[in-house]
Amino acid sequence: AIHLDHGSYEMAKEAMAAGFTSIMFDGSDLPIAENILKTKELVSWAHGRGIAIEAEVGSIGGEEDGIVGAGEIASIDEAKAMTAVGVDYLAAGIGNIHGQYPANWTGLKLAHLQALGAAIDEVCGRPMPIVLHGGSGVPDEQIQEAITYGVAKVNVNTEAQLAFHQAVRDFVLSDEDLVGKNYDPRKFLKPGVDAIQAAVEERIAVFGSAGKVN
Ligand code: 13P
Repeated sequence: AIHLDHGSYEMAKEAMAAGFTSIMFDGSDLPIAENILKTKELVSWAHGRGIAIEAEVGSIGGEEDGIVGAGEIASIDEAKAMTAVGVDYLAAGIGNIHGQYPANWTGLKLAHLQALGAAIDEVCGRPMPIVLHGGSGVPDEQIQEAITYGVAKVNVNTEAQLAFHQAVRDFVLSDEDLVGKNYDPRKFLKPGVDAIQAAVEERIAVFGSAGKVN
């Protein structure tokens, strides 16, 4: 898929017109009735074109690309109502935060996720894929347990950025960037790109997705 992450209503429509095959409409800052209504409109638009829609209930805490979320735990009734409009996958606030977790973070609300997952599966009539945002820094065993409750997509960004940053920093601080033609951006940035690849491969293995094609 070519996926739009955290798009507004306007961005979602623009991205669909531009050929994106999967859209996350993030209406979590809107009143829930409006979030559901706009999601419903986007679902009917998208499904006529073979495009998948992800919606959000509750909200993801922390900051990403300048957007700050309070981190509201998703209500099960709201998750059921959002599922009923036909979304393809659902992002739910369950104590997850974008960016690095604070030292006093108390972990994912796994019992709540389990109850929410069971409730939306019933509405949907089949396992409804849940999206876990803020995947960086969540202990592996919490992610693995979340997967057993219906999480089918884990968004990981900060860990990849940190891996890139550390590798490029090491490259420069060791003066390797001064060797030969390492000023070539393709060579200069390669340690960072390789570090992202290694980080992603390690996450794929931990999430149990290695070797799966769909
Ligand atoms: P992290 O940067 O915390 O991994 O979150 C990524 C994310 O949820 C993107 O939507």
